[in-house]
Amino acid sequence: MATTPNNGLNAFIAALPKAELHLHIEGTLEPELMFALAGRNGIRLPYSSVEEVRAAYRFANLQDFLDLYYAGAAVLLETQDFYDLTWAYMQRAFAQNVRHAEIFFDPQTHTARGVAFSAVIDGISRALADAEARLGLSSRLIMCFLRHLDEAQALATLELALPYRDRIAGVGLDSSERNNPPGKFREAFRRARAAGFAAVAHAGEEGPAAYVREALEALQVVRIDHGNNALDDADLVTELAQRRIPLTVCPLSNVRLCVVPDLSAHPLQRMLDLGLMVTVNSDDPAYFGGYLNENYLAVADALTLDRATLAQLARNSFQASLLDADTKATLLAEVDSVALSAAS
Ligand code: ADE
Ligand code: ZN
Repeated sequence: MATTPNNGLNAFIAALPKAELHLHIEGTLEPELMFALAGRNGIRLPYSSVEEVRAAYRFANLQDFLDLYYAGAAVLLETQDFYDLTWAYMQRAFAQNVRHAEIFFDPQTHTARGVAFSAVIDGISRALADAEARLGLSSRLIMCFLRHLDEAQALATLELALPYRDRIAGVGLDSSERNNPPGKFREAFRRARAAGFAAVAHAGEEGPAAYVREALEALQVVRIDHGNNALDDADLVTELAQRRIPLTVCPLSNVRLCVVPDLSAHPLQRMLDLGLMVTVNSDDPAYFGGYLNENYLAVADALTLDRATLAQLARNSFQASLLDADTKATLLAEVDSVALSAAS
């Protein structure tokens, strides 16, 4: 069989059916679309070209990135803008053989600028419905609370979301982690869970292992987004492994935000060796230099992951999803068939 320079790993990753479970829709705003929407909405950007925007994507930490990410999101005003953003991501995901996407959105970033909650949710959810109908790509929406704001604002956002309960599967927690522990949002998450939302939270990206434990205990989350720093606490690792709590790990994000010095130092293999339920995701691909397949490939190259491990990561992505058991079984069988035909 003909081999490519990386021994066909590229093609193998492309062929694997995958789920993406950690993806901020605002983080898929490519500079080209940012300029197009700025033009459409009469907004002046502090950049003169797409190249200048990309050149600004050098971050020393999470906050550096968030400052640009919130500034970029200011071009999103109308329902159609949210549709175009989401549709662009779904087409890219489809092209990478992503079969299911669980997508974060940050309504407070938009409602704070006077954009109606209905414009945000209508634009995003129409694009998701079109992706399901036209591409066969399924999805769930997860509404994130911004943790640098207070809990009263999270509760007000939850109230706005209740009429759209049928379109939103879960709630999450994102933005600046340091000094904003999960426990700050205990009541918002309690009410969200009582209303039937699944709960997830970013924890252990820049914050300590204690925040991961707090997300489990105070917020009762079913998944941890990132979770890298959980490795500092052996008892916590044992609990995460025993309870099979998924970690939605984002390799390229971790490098760009200086969570790890480089990919060869990434803890993903260590996490797997410890028996953790790890998945690979892209976080904010327009800002971090790659979508889902680029994340799989980068980490496979840096850590010399074999095909069996890559197939396991793809299986984990479906297992860790909010999909029903029958759909999971169908997609897991498809992963097995790709893994088997590559092995023969
Ligand atoms: N919002 C968008 N991307 C994020 C990340 N990686 N961590 C926290 N909040 C975010
Ligand atoms: Zn994230």
